[in-house]
Amino acid sequence: MTAAKLVIGNWKLNGEVARVRAFAQRAARDWPGCEAALCVPHTMLAAAQAAFGATPLRWGAQDCSAEDEGAFTGEVSARMIREFGARYVLVGHSERRTALGETDGQIVAKVQRALAAGLTPIVCIGEKAEERDGEQTAMVLRRQLLQLVRALQGGLASVVVAYEPVWAIGSGDAATPGMIDHTLGFIADTLAFHGGVSAGAVRILYGGSVHPRNAGAILSRKSVAGVLVGGASLVPDDFIEICKAAARCSAPRHEIHIQQGSVSAQ
Ligand code: PGA
Repeated sequence: MTAAKLVIGNWKLNGEVARVRAFAQRAARDWPGCEAALCVPHTMLAAAQAAFGATPLRWGAQDCSAEDEGAFTGEVSARMIREFGARYVLVGHSERRTALGETDGQIVAKVQRALAAGLTPIVCIGEKAEERDGEQTAMVLRRQLLQLVRALQGGLASVVVAYEPVWAIGSGDAATPGMIDHTLGFIADTLAFHGGVSAGAVRILYGGSVHPRNAGAILSRKSVAGVLVGGASLVPDDFIEICKAAARCSAPRHEIHIQQGSVSAQ
């Protein structure tokens, strides 16, 4: 697994082309050197391609269709998104699961379309407040993961998973680093046990009220491969601050030391 921490912005139903350009100018001027992307509304993908192409910042979409083509008015396919040079697509965000009734089955189909188109799907999972209070978190997360794991088998390592407790999204109160460690550990174990992937093969992000003031504490946890950022990804200074924390928390390149016939990574 790469030791570089990943920062993904989710603009939701916000932003405009001028803001895409403002981010590009900022990224070109002052880039902290982490891996980062902004998932913008579909209508801004062309502007993102034009503006971010010459910067280290990548771009992605917030959803793709479960279909590839045909009579599906209003849908946008993964292949169409890929045509704009996008690298990522969010799939199964809780706002889509709740407001639009997206099911685990539809989410799996979207993930498969994304992978076939050459996009990296970022699959969002997480429990609601009442599920947490009813001690159902493990059951909910397992249910959200199992169909995916069964459908993808060997393709699992090409997916990024984002754990976003629904109660933390937009609340200003992120889960504590201890809770994040615990839950990301559970997700990694579930993927390893049911999907046969080795520990660390799938990047697992945390999302939900990540801001410049808590990003360092969250990103410094070994279990956290990166963060998914909503509100704070709309403000260039805030997003860059989070990227700086990610760059600080990314492990330095592993050096291979060969001593007396033994090889050790440090
Ligand atoms: P937030 O949103 O950072 O504003 O809490 C995160 C998300 O919904 O992806």
